[in-house]
Amino acid sequence: MTPEATPAADSLLQFKDAALGYGSFTVLSGVSIDVRRGQVATMIGGSGSGKTTLLRAATGQITPQSGTITAFGESIGTATSTELQRLRQRMGVLFQQGALFTDLNVFENVAFPIREHMPLSEHQVVERVLDKLEAVGLRAAAHLHISEISGGMARRVALARAIVLEPELILYDEPFAGLDPISLGITAQLIRTLTDRLHCASVLITHNVMESFAISDDVYMVGQGKLLAHGTPDDLMKSAEPYIQQFLKGEPDGPIAFNYPETPAFDKWLQHHKGHS
Ligand SMILES: Nc1ncnc2c1ncn2[C@@H]1O[C@H](COP(=O)(O)OP(=O)(O)OP(=O)(O)O)[C@@H](O)[C@H]1O
Ligand SMILES: [Mg+2]
Repeated sequence: MTPEATPAADSLLQFKDAALGYGSFTVLSGVSIDVRRGQVATMIGGSGSGKTTLLRAATGQITPQSGTITAFGESIGTATSTELQRLRQRMGVLFQQGALFTDLNVFENVAFPIREHMPLSEHQVVERVLDKLEAVGLRAAAHLHISEISGGMARRVALARAIVLEPELILYDEPFAGLDPISLGITAQLIRTLTDRLHCASVLITHNVMESFAISDDVYMVGQGKLLAHGTPDDLMKSAEPYIQQFLKGEPDGPIAFNYPETPAFDKWLQHHKGHS
């Protein structure tokens, strides 16, 4: 079957002309995304460009200001809380600031979603949790308390917890943050292998161009309040667009600004504070 003929049922996450934001503040508009089973789709863009906002919209934490978002063919924006809960059970999420439960050890942190959602025997729980810990290289750290592991190890435990239910759609927000170069390469490969093995779809949010491009089928670049580019890693590498090249090469000068833009809300805050100094 050619990719063009792939049925729409293979589409696990779809944004159609979506506007996303908080209250009356719009972060991104005109966003159209289609992530299919078996794909690793990467979202790149500068800090504050709206990557985590995309993830919040995909999981239904925020509803689109306009346009539609569907996961597994069902509308996320209009789902009831019961429907949303059911859809979320089919997703694994690694949050950017995903906190582990500090009163549980490594093993129990990873076992937690199983105990909540899957009626498995204790023997099966042990097998599955150790299998996922093995995948992130932390099998022998199962007994450790969260206070006894490093920041990078905590990231990997959170990753094992995100995949333990073997979800159909996995969303990773900065999975490489805090990892050393070896763990980083292994984690990137793990995301690819899991996607292929579970035949799921992965959405990867990252600043790390080299590692993510090596494992991605599709790349979306966000910035300036919209989707700036979409294509294969190769398409983006070959693009002549100055903002794409600036981002990919990490150049300080170019169309992408480093400074957070000043807003009327900031001016008001500044006036207020200056008035009190
Ligand atoms: N809960 C919120 N309420 C209001 N504005 C928010 C909220 N969360 C984020 N924002 C704003 O939305 C914009 C996008 O934030 P977002 O967290 O999506 O960026 P990001 O691309 O994930 O950045 P980073 O790479 O630093 O994680 C920023 O201007 C931010 O200030
Ligand atoms: Mg973010």
